[in-house]
Amino acid sequence: MISVPNFAPLLAGFWFRDAASTGAADVDWLYFFILWLSVFFFFLITALTVAFVARYYARPGHAAEHTPHHNNALEAAWSIFPGFLVVAIFYWGFTGYLDLRTPPENAYEIRVVAKKWNWSFMYPNGVVDPNLHVPADQPVKLVMSSDDVLHSLYIPAFRVKMDVVPGRYSTLWFEATKPNDESYDQAIDATTTGSDENGYDLFCTEYCGQGHSAMLAKVIVHKSGTFETWLEDAAKIDPASSPVELGKDIWKYRGCAQCHSVDGAKGTGPTWKDTYGTEQATDKGEVTVDENYIRESILNPMAKIRDGYKGVMPSYQGQLKDAEIASVIWYIKSLKEGEEVAASWDEI
Ligand code: CUA
Repeated sequence: MISVPNFAPLLAGFWFRDAASTGAADVDWLYFFILWLSVFFFFLITALTVAFVARYYARPGHAAEHTPHHNNALEAAWSIFPGFLVVAIFYWGFTGYLDLRTPPENAYEIRVVAKKWNWSFMYPNGVVDPNLHVPADQPVKLVMSSDDVLHSLYIPAFRVKMDVVPGRYSTLWFEATKPNDESYDQAIDATTTGSDENGYDLFCTEYCGQGHSAMLAKVIVHKSGTFETWLEDAAKIDPASSPVELGKDIWKYRGCAQCHSVDGAKGTGPTWKDTYGTEQATDKGEVTVDENYIRESILNPMAKIRDGYKGVMPSYQGQLKDAEIASVIWYIKSLKEGEEVAASWDEI
């Protein structure tokens, strides 16, 4: 591993997100090393060029008094010194690349499926989530595949990026160092992008069609011990409970809660409280928030975007079964006073 002074903090936060993985420091170090080396030589060479031009142009007749053909010492110096730098950069780059590409044996494995236009993260116990939940201080390996076209998974805070290719698996690993599950527990605005508050940003960075820019997720890093609790809770979603209860579980564990409040509070997405049956303005005109509108919003969120919202919701196409979508609708209905809701599966 590289053990030289770390000058990444010089520009930290200007171009890069705060580093939150074990590998990030090496990536930043090499990046800034090459950057500052290039800046140094840019100014050195520019200054020498200007100085030589000024000096020789100023001489009467512009003629050289003496033109040296050869200077062994100089030529050796400008060959050997940059040669060392190139070899050093190659060495750090290559060993860093090997580290990035070689997951530790004990890495926790999570399956990732990319499709137009959302992410599914699948855990060993069968839980599927649209956001990536990982334990802190433990290597995590993502085994990724695509259902349709080329996508690419990028987590800026971890400095990792890898293409997700149809017809084959690609892998990526990292070890997250900074838990951020406290804000997740408060369930606020976790899909606001452009900042790593309330979950680290996860982007698709391969243009994949109309919904590419909305192909987003958040990375929630759980403190040691609490990841297992989250995973167990998420697995508890019980299809045998009442439709409203199932809808509530889906809201809580499948990512809805991070944008949609159920108490009227404004979030990234519209609150679900008292929304069922209301008339709402969208970019395609007035809509009534009924079964069809909610279903469309879940499967194709870009179809009609409510006024005052940015339309950053990912599609849940293929992630929620019909009965689950119906349960979400029942739950939204239950949050509106006066709406009749089914108390058991027999009633629907
Ligand atoms: Cu998926 Cu861009």
